[in-house]
Amino acid sequence: MGGGFFTCFLVVVVLLRCSASLQLNTDEFFVSDFFLKMGAKVAGSSSVCSWKGVTCDERREKVIALVASGFGLSGVIPENTIGKLSKLRTLDLSANNITGLSSDIWELGSSLRSLNLSWNQINGSLPNNLANFGELESLVLSYNSFSGEIPTALGSLRSLKVLNFSGNGFEGSLPDSILGCESLVSIDLSSNRLNGTVPNGLDDAFKNLTFLDLSGNEMNGRLPELSGLNSITYINLSGNLFEGSILGLFREIDLSNNQLQGHISQVNLSSSYTWSSLVYLDLSGNELSGEFFSDLGRARSLKHLNLAFNMFSHQNFPQLEQLSGLEYLNLSKTSLTGQIPTEFSKLFSLKTLDLSHNHITGYIPDLSMDNLQVLDLSMNNLTGGIPKPLLDKLPNMTRFNFSYNHLKFCAAELSPQTFNTAFVGSVNDCPIAVDPDVIKSKGTKHRGLKLALAISLSFFFLIAGLVCLAIRFRKRTGSWAVKQLPCKEEPNVSGPFSFQTDSTTWVADVKSATSVPVVIFEKPLLNFTFADLLTATSHFDRGTLLAEGKFGPVYRGILPGGIHVAVKVLVRGSAVTDQEAARELERLGWIKHPNLVPLTGYCLAGDQRIAIYDYMENGNLQNLLHDLPLGVQTTEDWSTDTWEEDAGIVQNITTEGMTTWRFRHKIALGAARSLAFLHHGCYPQIVHRDVKANSIYLDSELEPRLSDFGLSNIAGATSEDEISQGSPGYAPPEFSESENVSATTRSDVYGFGVVLFELVTGKKPIGDDYPEERETTLVSWARTFVKKNRALRIIDPKIRETGSEKQMEEALRIAYLCTADLPSKRPSMQQIVGLLKDIEPIAADH
Ligand SMILES: *[C@@H]1O[C@H](CO)[C@@H](O)[C@H](O)[C@H]1NC(C)=O
Ligand SMILES: *[C@@H]1O[C@H](CO)[C@@H](O)[C@H](O)[C@H]1NC(C)=O
Ligand SMILES: *[C@@H]1O[C@H](CO)[C@@H](O)[C@H](O)[C@H]1NC(C)=O
Ligand SMILES: *[C@@H]1O[C@H](CO)[C@@H](O)[C@H](O)[C@H]1NC(C)=O
Ligand SMILES: *[C@@H]1O[C@H](CO)[C@@H](O)[C@H](O)[C@H]1NC(C)=O
Ligand SMILES: *[C@@H]1O[C@H](CO)[C@@H](O)[C@H](O)[C@H]1NC(C)=O
Ligand SMILES: *[C@@H]1O[C@H](CO)[C@@H](O)[C@H](O)[C@H]1NC(C)=O
Ligand SMILES: *[C@@H]1O[C@H](CO)[C@@H](O)[C@H](O)[C@H]1NC(C)=O
Ligand SMILES: *[C@@H]1O[C@H](CO)[C@@H](O)[C@H](O)[C@H]1NC(C)=O
Ligand SMILES: *[C@@H]1O[C@H](CO)[C@@H](O)[C@H](O)[C@H]1NC(C)=O
Ligand SMILES: *[C@@H]1O[C@H](CO)[C@@H](O)[C@H](O)[C@H]1NC(C)=O
Ligand SMILES: *[C@@H]1O[C@H](CO)[C@@H](O)[C@H](O)[C@H]1NC(C)=O
Repeated sequence: MGGGFFTCFLVVVVLLRCSASLQLNTDEFFVSDFFLKMGAKVAGSSSVCSWKGVTCDERREKVIALVASGFGLSGVIPENTIGKLSKLRTLDLSANNITGLSSDIWELGSSLRSLNLSWNQINGSLPNNLANFGELESLVLSYNSFSGEIPTALGSLRSLKVLNFSGNGFEGSLPDSILGCESLVSIDLSSNRLNGTVPNGLDDAFKNLTFLDLSGNEMNGRLPELSGLNSITYINLSGNLFEGSILGLFREIDLSNNQLQGHISQVNLSSSYTWSSLVYLDLSGNELSGEFFSDLGRARSLKHLNLAFNMFSHQNFPQLEQLSGLEYLNLSKTSLTGQIPTEFSKLFSLKTLDLSHNHITGYIPDLSMDNLQVLDLSMNNLTGGIPKPLLDKLPNMTRFNFSYNHLKFCAAELSPQTFNTAFVGSVNDCPIAVDPDVIKSKGTKHRGLKLALAISLSFFFLIAGLVCLAIRFRKRTGSWAVKQLPCKEEPNVSGPFSFQTDSTTWVADVKSATSVPVVIFEKPLLNFTFADLLTATSHFDRGTLLAEGKFGPVYRGILPGGIHVAVKVLVRGSAVTDQEAARELERLGWIKHPNLVPLTGYCLAGDQRIAIYDYMENGNLQNLLHDLPLGVQTTEDWSTDTWEEDAGIVQNITTEGMTTWRFRHKIALGAARSLAFLHHGCYPQIVHRDVKANSIYLDSELEPRLSDFGLSNIAGATSEDEISQGSPGYAPPEFSESENVSATTRSDVYGFGVVLFELVTGKKPIGDDYPEERETTLVSWARTFVKKNRALRIIDPKIRETGSEKQMEEALRIAYLCTADLPSKRPSMQQIVGLLKDIEPIAADH
């Protein structure tokens, strides 16, 4: 303080006197000098008391509050400035670029109630001068670069309510003297480098403490005793090295990433704590063992629960479905076993669900809750696919991971990169006949889809209208015998609806047909309803009946959009819930193979589950082989009665086409491929349970396609019994030996063997004329011939001349193997595919 100071000082006085009547050693002078030296703009011409951030006492003489947060102050606080404001109660210099404190700041003394220096760059240690602020109530020094130990003088601040030193570099241990700060309500010492233990008696000293954050230090020893802290709502001790158990009452508890050991019940939340007020619980990253809290379900206010990365063993899923407010659930690496409860789909608030690194089995339930943004199910034992609604939601989510499970599904919409990172180890089970490039381009065309759809729909309606008109006209003129094509009749749309077939009456117990959706997998934008099914099938008119199968009646119909479908009503009562049925049908919808009849969609109409299939234009094998006098039917012959009476509609098959060895072999190989796919290509494997000639259809390309796979799960227990008895002529011997034999892949093989015999001999499985034998079945008749090496004699005379007899004989041998009495002697479908390929007729063969 030599001449330099005075020169400077005089300049200041001159400068300031120009704008205000500034007197030396007034508060106005100290404040303006402070602003000037710290590089801030001086506030203006009026008295200091009206400057921004300044509050004076009633007499407008003394400054009692200076709030200069974010004023762009920089440098060290100069001597003889604000340290001289003798009545200052509140000083807030937060969010500036202050790098150090003057020594006279400590002279503020006992007038000061609140000091906020947060978000500056003050370094060095905090001196014991702190004790001067005897009446201080709030001390906020967070986010500076303070280092060294917390001064013991802190303990003399008996009025201190708020202590916030977070985000500094304080070291060493917390001084015992802190227990002297008996008024403390909030302690935030997070993110420092404090070590050592928490002083004993914390809970006695701080009766009014509500907030305690010691997270992100290096503190150790046993967890502090907190049970006496009756007001505490938030405790965060995460990221330390604490051990032991905790007792007390909290709203928010974060004890993550410590070394808490032992049985989780030692983390004693039960005592006097009312679970109902718990909002936040994080015990992740400890070494807790035992079982989850059994009363977690009572924590109705819980929003955040993280128990991840502990040392639990074999946990069952906790019951959480009542926790409707839960937003974050992390049970990663908690040794969870069992299936994900379907009730999880009721956790509507859930934003984050992490169940990774467990031993979870079974299917993934529909977790497409609106708010879900993060889903991690990686590293489990999940099987099956991903429910369609969830699959559709994935592109909208922030993060998802299904890697390292046993999933198998078709995810044509997801990019290969996504598949390779978020579905590691899953099988992309898309139609194998489909060229991946086609799928890709489909994905990119998505945007134009709506428009294209709209255009094609209107086009369709135009055509449909014309067709309907034409049909009506023809009907009237009697020139067209077909009467069941669905015209635009308006069916009654309020239910319940009752329908009658020759053998069944079934009821769709729905109130309004238009409120029951029809799910069409590939075309989710088409909002079809049960009413459309009614229209498509002329109100399930008997005339549209294609067949009366084991599961119930099958109708044919044309949905809006020209979607030609077979509508299979699974009338038998079933134990599964609608949700389970929907999930199973969704799963079946993903199962695609060029030799399977694709499941197009479904509808849950009251108790009735309705499966919708692509319509197979060329009927089924049974009709083709046995029912139709081959050679009569031709493509153009629309006027025959066959259409109305016959289940199989034969349009395209000519005599020549059907009665060749090549064609019969093609059917055998296609059917074998589809079964091999169900048995060996699906996880979990699918047993068909009812392989027979009329389960094998021919599509418009005359490609054989197996139908009815996987329905028995949905059709329910009663029909299961019936099915396991098999269809007459196709049931393997083990079914008649015992009541409780269930269908297996080997019983499917048997059924296939019978079909193969049919294909080569042209005989029906039962009730046909079997030369040289009476009262027998196709299997025992044909087996006898094969066994006696006289197989050539039973080849269907219609095909004998069309190919290699050697191959046909070999096919009979394969059928012989398939129909072995002992299931274990029958080859697998994979082997059968191989055997059939060995005898594939080449073009020159016929
Ligand atoms: C201290 O300053 C920071 C930053 O401006 C502010 O967020 C905080 O509310 C202040 N704390 C108190 C107790 O005044
Ligand atoms: C601190 O100073 C730096 C540069 O000197 C500046 O960019 C930053 O905005 C200042 N911060 C505050 C809070 O004034
Ligand atoms: C505080 O920081 C300044 C400059 O960043 C440095 O020169 C000084 O040595 C530091 N003081 C302490 C006590 O670390
Ligand atoms: C402590 O200060 C930091 C920085 O301003 C703030 O984020 C934190 O919420 C404060 N702690 C409490 C308990 O108010
Ligand atoms: C605590 O930290 C200080 C300084 O960082 C160190 O000297 C002391 O040994 C540490 N004490 C313990 C118990 O780790
Ligand atoms: C705790 O709070 C109550 C009510 O707010 C107050 O009367 C009492 O003095 C406080 N206790 C301490 C030790 O500050
Ligand atoms: C506890 O502190 C850690 C680290 O400071 C922080 O990440 C976490 O969010 C805090 N927990 C709660 C419940 O605020
Ligand atoms: C937890 O609290 C309950 C109820 O007060 C008590 O019975 C039990 O002994 C406590 N457990 C531990 C480990 O302190
Ligand atoms: C779940 O908790 C673990 C351990 O704290 C953490 O590593 C993981 O990121 C958390 N998962 C999510 C999705 O937040
Ligand atoms: C998955 O299940 C198999 C057999 O059931 C078991 O060997 C394997 O350890 C399980 N994997 C996981 C991650 O639980
Ligand atoms: C995805 O987000 C888009 C736009 O936000 C929305 O239109 C669409 O319905 C969402 N899809 C799903 C499945 O939530
Ligand atoms: C999914 O989890 C696995 C296993 O933890 C990991 O290797 C992979 O990087 C994760 N993928 C994504 C996209 O997060």
